[in-house]
Amino acid sequence: MGNILILYHSNTGNTAKMADFVAEGAASVSGMEIRKLTTDEATADDLQWCDGIALGSPTNMGSMAWKVKKWWDTEAIKKWLEIDGKFACAFSSSAGWGGGNETACNAMATVLLNFGFLYFGVTDYVGKGLTPHYGAVIAGEPREEKEKESCRRLGRRLSEWVGYYREGRAELHPNKARYPRDPKSFE
Ligand SMILES: Cc1cc2nc3c(=O)[nH]c(=O)nc-3n(C[C@H](O)[C@H](O)[C@H](O)COP(=O)(O)O)c2cc1C
Repeated sequence: MGNILILYHSNTGNTAKMADFVAEGAASVSGMEIRKLTTDEATADDLQWCDGIALGSPTNMGSMAWKVKKWWDTEAIKKWLEIDGKFACAFSSSAGWGGGNETACNAMATVLLNFGFLYFGVTDYVGKGLTPHYGAVIAGEPREEKEKESCRRLGRRLSEWVGYYREGRAELHPNKARYPRDPKSFE
């Protein structure tokens, strides 16, 4: 059994909708227990509990929302030096494409790396012209199927890495995946 934490903040609901799809993707791997919590709900104990985390924030000035940074500054810091070696990834909703949603993911990556998380990117394409290389990024809420799939794929990959490396489930390695990943699949 792997433990997956989806931790997020959302002001107007867009990142929350992304979190729903990330959770759906994480749960598509058997044997995973999922906690989906906002930064108002989660405590440092949830970090200790998890084997993998997907951290989500609205893009605010090209970075994470202050509430997310505050959570790591004041709550997660209680467990610094105690939670190294867990898998991590990020997702972010911005107002527009090019509005900094990838830099927001990179900002969250910086925090996660500081805590010793193993931050990963996703090589897959999830539809024509869309990939969560640095994390799942959406302008507004996920509407198109490929946008929903980008969030799902991020969550699924998190569960796959937890299953593969923590539980030794060789069949979960993404290079053995049956779903389309290659950009050529969508030409
Ligand atoms: C303080 C603030 C800063 C923002 N900065 C950016 C930004 O740098 N780039 C961008 O594209 N959108 C920016 N936005 C818009 C939000 O990222 C966007 O509306 C997002 O979809 C909100 O997600 P949520 O519904 O989860 O709160 C900003 C919004 C706020 C309130």
